[in-house]
Amino acid sequence: MSYVVGIDLGTSAVKVIAVDRTGRVQAEVSRSYPLHHPKSGVSEQNPGDWVEKTLDALHELTKEIPASDIDGMSFSGQMHGLVLLDEQYQPLRPAILWNDTRTTEQCRTIEEQVGKERLLEIAKNPALEGFTLPKLLWVKENEPDLYEKATLFLLPKDYVRYRFTGELYMDYSDAAGTLLMNVSEKTWSDEIASRTGISRSLCPPLIESTERVGAFKDGLVEGLTNVSVFAGGADNACGAIGAGILEPGKTLCSIGTSGVILSYEEDTDLTVDGKIHYFNHGKANAYYTMGVTLSAGQSLSWFKEQFAEDTPFEELLSDLDDVPAGSNGLLFTPYLSGERSPHADALIRGSFIGIDASHTRKHLVRSVLEGITFSLNESLAIFRESGKEIDEIVSIGGGAKNDSWLQMQADIFNATVTRHESEEGPALGAAMLAAFGCGWFPTLEACADSFLKVKKQFTPNDENVKAYHKLFSLYQSVYGQTKELNQKLNEYRI
Ligand code: XUL
Repeated sequence: MSYVVGIDLGTSAVKVIAVDRTGRVQAEVSRSYPLHHPKSGVSEQNPGDWVEKTLDALHELTKEIPASDIDGMSFSGQMHGLVLLDEQYQPLRPAILWNDTRTTEQCRTIEEQVGKERLLEIAKNPALEGFTLPKLLWVKENEPDLYEKATLFLLPKDYVRYRFTGELYMDYSDAAGTLLMNVSEKTWSDEIASRTGISRSLCPPLIESTERVGAFKDGLVEGLTNVSVFAGGADNACGAIGAGILEPGKTLCSIGTSGVILSYEEDTDLTVDGKIHYFNHGKANAYYTMGVTLSAGQSLSWFKEQFAEDTPFEELLSDLDDVPAGSNGLLFTPYLSGERSPHADALIRGSFIGIDASHTRKHLVRSVLEGITFSLNESLAIFRESGKEIDEIVSIGGGAKNDSWLQMQADIFNATVTRHESEEGPALGAAMLAAFGCGWFPTLEACADSFLKVKKQFTPNDENVKAYHKLFSLYQSVYGQTKELNQKLNEYRI
């Protein structure tokens, strides 16, 4: 038997899977690590924790399948996080993550220095708090002594890959999320770097997601020697690969800590207005557009941690269908860490609107899921307004584990929602990059044809579609109605 290993370095945990030549996940290990929110808007992790927990997971995985049967491995990683390295390539400070929103001032500076239009022409995205360039500028301004010592920056999975291989690289799909890359030309942008005062020497060499970067170092995990390591990609690019989003017309809904609606694009030089992201795919010379809900699965995890800590997710969601669409007049907005799409707003916060004494926990749970799904539907609406016809959406991640939530997605999105045999998404996409890299398949598409099988499809229920259509416009009005309130509340946040 031979296997490829996919490593998904997420925000709450790392997931490591071993996949055989038929695409079956034969072993899976997950290890969580802490996420630090010392202040409102701050989100950091210790890069050493990623390395330690990934090695621990690989060690466990090789108890379930023989290490000597592993042909190759690759990575999927949380995007945008800044890992700043010193001369010895040691992290200079904790990583500043994608959902950290301290950099509003730096975003305005980037817009002034580069120009909003020019930024969209080169980087294909606007300056948003979560991206890496504003984080670099924040460190330069607020921690100048530390910035002086920096010789290179990496993104989260690139750092782990470096520790496993000794090779320093960043792939195009992840580099696109730094705001420092020319997305069409696939080169670091000298113009953006010089206008914002960032030294180009801080940027690592660029590489395709499918390229081999080196071999897994001896001595890290017993028996794991000479295994080829392939670059891998951004978690959303890998999620798209793992869901077969490899040709025009295909759309993805991925719900992890964040949630995204993603659509495949072929156009190298799409004209964009910045409402949604436009990034390089993990498949060479392909792209995707994407809207992001910052706190998707995170809203549900937050609710569980605060109000149902000892209740397993399955039990918490078991009475979803006892509550009708609309949660008896309760609306939730999932702005726990501000929002990205369609409202790029670091200060907005979430709300429950319409609580009354008849509501019980199950109403709150249903409204949290409805709020997350409405938020994703706002991104879908942007795609549809741009003329895309979307009748089918592949759902992956935590949002694809529960049938009632999948039906809710079909009803709110008014589209058929497909669940594959494996909803692993990003980890599977990473394994597919390794399978292609190892030569198991001539193309990623051939790999997807062989690995991905539909398990179940959910078709929209007319009555619920109507109910949700009306409720969606109420949901959309909550942002405008709570924006100013949240700006005023900001002075009370610590
Ligand atoms: C995408 C984004 C998130 C992270 C989550 O722009 O910020 O989806 O990639 O890991």
